[in-house]
Amino acid sequence: MSSLIEQASRRLEQLRQAGVAVPDIVAAAVAPVVPEPVAPAPPPARPSVVSRQVDLDLDALTAAGFVSPNAPRSQIADQYRVIKRPLIANAMGKGATPIVNGNLIMVTSAVAGEGKSFNALNLALSIATELNNTVMLVDADVARPSILRMLGLPASRGLLDLLVDDKADLSQVLLRTNIDKLTLLPSGTPHPRATELLASDAMNTLIADIARRYSDRIVIFDSPPLLLTTESRVLATHMGQIVVVVHAEKTLRNDVQHALATIESCPVKMMVLNQAKAGAGEGYGYGGYGQGYGYGYGS
Ligand SMILES: Nc1ncnc2c1ncn2[C@@H]1O[C@H](COP(=O)(O)OP(=O)(O)OP(=O)(O)O)[C@@H](O)[C@H]1O
Ligand SMILES: [Mg+2]
Repeated sequence: MSSLIEQASRRLEQLRQAGVAVPDIVAAAVAPVVPEPVAPAPPPARPSVVSRQVDLDLDALTAAGFVSPNAPRSQIADQYRVIKRPLIANAMGKGATPIVNGNLIMVTSAVAGEGKSFNALNLALSIATELNNTVMLVDADVARPSILRMLGLPASRGLLDLLVDDKADLSQVLLRTNIDKLTLLPSGTPHPRATELLASDAMNTLIADIARRYSDRIVIFDSPPLLLTTESRVLATHMGQIVVVVHAEKTLRNDVQHALATIESCPVKMMVLNQAKAGAGEGYGYGGYGQGYGYGYGS
């Protein structure tokens, strides 16, 4: 783990020297997770009543290699301990400078498939299972939602329902879980104009509502990639902290650079190099850009 962190620091330095605006500070890494082979559990039979409590299969989470309260000493748990610490400090106003809406944390990436949902979910699980923080995980990737699927849960009302119906209340669609401190806001009923809704005034109002009503919670937004559509950039303007997930082997340096440029105004940006492999040599992956992760404050 520490050598991964050192590698990540070195890589960030290389990035900086290559002219990419990467702010200072620490580095860490998320290694590829190798799930245990298990037969997928059938979706739990669920009564049609409006029960807002769902049960996460913690053994399945552990077997799939996610952060889980059942496996507090796993490698993945260790990695997210490192990642979450500064995010929590900022969210709780204990960082170097107070951050407006520091408790609103968006997880995004330059392009699709870099590991946004994986990182958003693990971060939420990590914060909720160990510390005195309550977490709300919002599936704001409304065009390609995946949080409920990753958790083996059936579709449920959520964000889009709130955006199309101004009488619907957040408390009606939030899902409590068997991890006491974790609640979920699913993406909700699919809608043909889902992406427009995400950038709508209704969404601005909803985020303001979340920030006001849940100021003591850490709210993590899984979101669309920054370079493919614009709504993620709109969402970014409301966030106190943004985690940019970068696929260690696939993402192009230019894409990272452009993605960071689109979120310049966010006070805290963190970069996570995902699928980082320990022991890989210099220049591994593409064009000398490596694996590991770093984050920083300011721009
Ligand atoms: N560190 C990791 N170790 C193992 N598997 C990973 C890791 N990160 C991501 N994955 C897997 O890679 C795939 C893509 O990740 P994920 O769905 O999180 O990406 P995404 O950025 O949310 O994609 P999309 O843009 O489609 O929403 C998933 O199957 C996920 O489980
Ligand atoms: Mg996703």
